[in-house]
Parts: sequence; structure tokens; C-alpha cells
Amino acid sequence: MNLILLGPPGAGKGTQAKRIVEAFKLVQLSTGDMLRAEVAKRSEIGRQAAAIMKAGLLVPDEMIDNLMDSRLDQEDCRNGFILDGFPRTLPQAAALDGMLTKKNMALDAVLPIQVDDEAMVQRISGRYTCAKCGEGYHDTFKRPKVAGVCDVCGAHEFTRRDDDKAETVRARLKAYHAQTEPIISYYRKRGIVHNIDGMLSIDGVTEQVMAALKEHVGAA
Ligand code: AP5
Repeated sequence: MNLILLGPPGAGKGTQAKRIVEAFKLVQLSTGDMLRAEVAKRSEIGRQAAAIMKAGLLVPDEMIDNLMDSRLDQEDCRNGFILDGFPRTLPQAAALDGMLTKKNMALDAVLPIQVDDEAMVQRISGRYTCAKCGEGYHDTFKRPKVAGVCDVCGAHEFTRRDDDKAETVRARLKAYHAQTEPIISYYRKRGIVHNIDGMLSIDGVTEQVMAALKEHVGAA
């Protein structure tokens, strides 16, 4: 099963992707994570992307298309993947079609997670992750069971993203509405779009996602 999770910053793409990975043994391909890894290792791509990401803008299509094209060639993608953060522009969607045709792959479902902009600013500014295993938390909505200790790996160190400040989140939301939202109608014509209400609880959103996937691909 090959999926796309769409939605503005904070919609819960990463949160839901991890649950889908667990349920269906797919691989999560997050272009945001790929870019942050490039920034951390100070590669040429990372140097170019850092300032753009910090401003809440989108990096050039060609840079992302190349990253995704080589990532999709890796063996683990053959068992199915979830695209989280890609495509994000109509040219990226067209480039993805070309890549999938060339690799003899196809998309099964596109899940746009729909949310309210102002709620997203609150969600994102409260977000943090475990510095060791990457498990995501939130100051209000998802606290570790024991304060200051990661539920998954027991680490005590947590990090917050550079682009999670309220003013940058507003720039990211603007980029989403202008450049990413039109992709939904691009895929709707193919009959593979399932709208997801992202304003429900995390578990409520997961229930909708699982129902949409079962209905669409008949997966148990
Ligand atoms: P990226 O890393 O993709 O960030 P994003 O799309 O802005 O999405 P986020 O990771 O912020 O949010 P999410 O939807 O995954 O939410 P999460 O599950 O964490 O991209 C970063 C940057 O990289 C971009 O701005 C751009 O510069 C660049 N980039 C990346 N891809 C690109 C591309 N294809 N082209 C060009 N540039 C690209 O949830 C958020 C918080 O809310 C968490 O704390 C979570 O616990 C909580 N939460 C989740 N769901 C719920 C819920 N239902 N109720 C309550 N709380 C919830």
C-alpha cells in the first residue's frame, strides 16, 4: 500500500504516519525529516535548505524531487510507503507521477488531514520530541507518562524545532494554502482521496484513517 498524507503544519501527519507504519508495516518518508538530517550533517543541500526552512518557506522543487527519487529506489519502499510532506506543490505532484511510473509503483490513497489554522499555531508551539528516539510529545495534548522521561526509550533529553515559533508557523500555513492545497483536487479526480477530520483527538483521527484505509484497499 502506497499513501500520501497531506495537511498543513501541525495537522498530525507525522503522528498518524507512525501509527500507520506500525499497523501496516510501511515505511514513512518524511521530506521534513530528510531535510533536517541534511541540515544536521551540514551537507550542500542542508546549507541551502536551512535558511528557507527557518523562514517557513518551501525549498526548491528540484532539490526535493531528487531526494525523493533516490529514496524511493531503496529496497524498503517495495513493501509500501507513506509520503509525509511530499508532494507539496503541483510540480512536485507531477514529478512524483513520473517517478512512480518509472519505478513501476502506484498510489493507493491520498489522505488530506483537515484542521483549523489557529488551532495549528497552538499545537505546533507546544510540540517537542525525544532527542534519542524521536517520539513526539506535546505540552498539553501528549505528555510523557512520567514527566521528563520518554515513554518509548527512557531518555531524559528533548528537542524543539527551529521553525516552530508562532510567526514561522503562520508563514508555513500561508505556504500550505497557496502551494499545497491545490494538490487535493489534483488527486480527487482519480478517486483516491479520503478527507480526514484532524480536529478530533489523536485516537479519533487514527480511527478515521484506519477506516479510510480498510475501505479503500480492503486491508484488514
Ligand atoms: P515538515 O517537517 O514536513 O513540517 P510540516 O508539514 O510543517 O508538518 P509538521 O511536521 O510541522 O506537522 P505534522 O502534520 O507532522 O504534525 P505532528 O504530527 O508533528 O516540513 C518542514 C519544512 O521543510 C517546510 O516548512 C519546508 O521548508 C521544508 N519541506 C519539507 N518538505 C518539503 C517539500 N516537499 N517541498 C518543499 N519544502 C519542503 O503534530 C503536531 C503536534 O500536535 C504534535 O505535538 C502532536 O503530538 C500534536 N497532535 C497531532 N495530532 C493531534 C490531534 N489530533 N489533537 C491534538 N494534538 C495533536
